[in-house]
Amino acid sequence: MPDTDVVILKALLEANSSFVSGNMLANQLGISRVGVWARLDKLRQEGFGVEAVRHRGYRLIDEPTTINEALIRAYLEIGKSGVELVFRSETDSTNTDAERLLADGTQTPFVVIAQRQNKGRGRMGRPWHSQDDGNLYTSFAFRPQLPPAQMQMITLWMGTQLCHFISSKLALPAMIKWPNDIVSNGRKLAGILAEARVDADRTRDLIFGIGVNVNSNCSQWPKEVSAVATSLAELNGKPLKINQLAADLVYTVNSAYERYVSGAYRNEIFELWNRYDALRGRVVRGSKGKTEIVGTADGIDDHGNLLLTLENGQTQRIHAGEVSIGTRPETFARP
Ligand code: BTN
Repeated sequence: MPDTDVVILKALLEANSSFVSGNMLANQLGISRVGVWARLDKLRQEGFGVEAVRHRGYRLIDEPTTINEALIRAYLEIGKSGVELVFRSETDSTNTDAERLLADGTQTPFVVIAQRQNKGRGRMGRPWHSQDDGNLYTSFAFRPQLPPAQMQMITLWMGTQLCHFISSKLALPAMIKWPNDIVSNGRKLAGILAEARVDADRTRDLIFGIGVNVNSNCSQWPKEVSAVATSLAELNGKPLKINQLAADLVYTVNSAYERYVSGAYRNEIFELWNRYDALRGRVVRGSKGKTEIVGTADGIDDHGNLLLTLENGQTQRIHAGEVSIGTRPETFARP
């Protein structure tokens, strides 16, 4: 991966739509001005809009709406995320990839971002649609060292953070459906697959796989997924800057993880859960063992269980069973 592109893109982004002199870039990179021009020409072929004006230099007027490694790196360098990026044009699953890297002793935190997965996984062994068509496939790896009992709220917490990110940063509607499906207008926008290796007294490592439907046209997906999916671009009415979004997601998840590990999340999680809860007040079917329970969803308790108020006024807690709304065939389970 040529660092030259990252240096050029970082300079163009930092200039914030102003011009950057070709001379300055050439000096910074230790290459000729013709060399700079050639790199910019290559970037144009990758979907960047770069305006060139004599005696003023270059400025960035547009960026690709598909994943671009150099651009994500440039955004990450500007924000100094402290999270190492492992980029793959194709992998089996970013979660499986992260698992291999952890087993090899790779330092955490790191994030694996792939353009395409050939064995993308969802919860409960379901496949995750993972074509290179403008979506994000990311897996974050951490070594929390916390006792397993202290980790039970982390996936719910990450779900609230993802919703908050979509609502506040992108101004698009997102809700969370217990335990951690991110939905909008009843359709799935993003999913989280959390996987951990746990010893008796500590959580050795933790992987958060996050898939976000960003710029894809879900109506072109296989029928069974297109019927229940939506994307940020569909909600937005136009494509989003997916590479900036990828970098923003890295900051969001890393900061959310740090606030979880420090315990600071406790002051925020219930307020956020209530704000983004897609189930609250709705009649939900869940199961405990083999028993089916129908009740009105009433938020979560401080272990992350879903609370259901039954017709007789009793409260039941759903820990890991499946829940579905009304007669919809989808099922959801806590990892
Ligand atoms: C779900 O079923 O809702 C969870 C979907 C998680 C998908 C993401 S995409 C990136 C990461 N790699 C995977 O194989 N799965 C997760």
